[in-house]
Amino acid sequence: MTTTLKWLGHAAFEIKTGGKTLLVDPYLTDNPLASMRSEDAVADYILITHGHFDHVGDSISIATRTGATVIANPEISAWCSRQCVASHPLQTGSGFAFPFGYLKLTEAVHGSNLPDGSNGGSACGFLLTTLDEKKIYLAGDTSFFDGMRLIGEEGIDFAALPIGGYYTMDPDDALHAVKLLRPTMVLPIHYNTNDHIHQDPAQWTARVLAETSTKVALLKPGESVEI
Ligand code: NI
Ligand code: MN
Repeated sequence: MTTTLKWLGHAAFEIKTGGKTLLVDPYLTDNPLASMRSEDAVADYILITHGHFDHVGDSISIATRTGATVIANPEISAWCSRQCVASHPLQTGSGFAFPFGYLKLTEAVHGSNLPDGSNGGSACGFLLTTLDEKKIYLAGDTSFFDGMRLIGEEGIDFAALPIGGYYTMDPDDALHAVKLLRPTMVLPIHYNTNDHIHQDPAQWTARVLAETSTKVALLKPGESVEI
């Protein structure tokens, strides 16, 4: 059993695992890096890390069209319910055994207001344990924090970390995060989508390879890794 993770650009992913298709933070329309059109997206579940427009993205329209269930914190989940979209709330630190694997919401240090100004609760990351026990950590928008050391003790097979700075960790902090998490493989995300977050991912990759034993998946939007 393999898990295929496709980066769709910015912080958006399509993950195929356990016979299900998950979309994470599907910001596709208006995302200059998006490798997929919202109209072409398919999903059984949509995972949202926090309320910012570049993460909620096309969640409502995709869920309405496909019948996908949104998984998010209680505030975002309630906001989806008010728009007649099925949702499953979880709190930071809690998890649930879904048909595709065990999904836990992890701490993230970041804001979460929704695009219409509604309270979006607390930002989170996701720790997915697949049905064949692979551990995938999607940090979400966050600063680095000491709890990453504890998340790393789970034995992370794959981590996606923001490197763009300005809104999140910058390359220095993301390198620090790799040292705390010690994942087998890391994917840098959340950079070069706009002028505020211009970074050189090849330079960051070289630093990770020189200073840690983690491998780097330096994907372009639309490219996939198997985990
Ligand atoms: Ni954000
Ligand atoms: Mn963001």
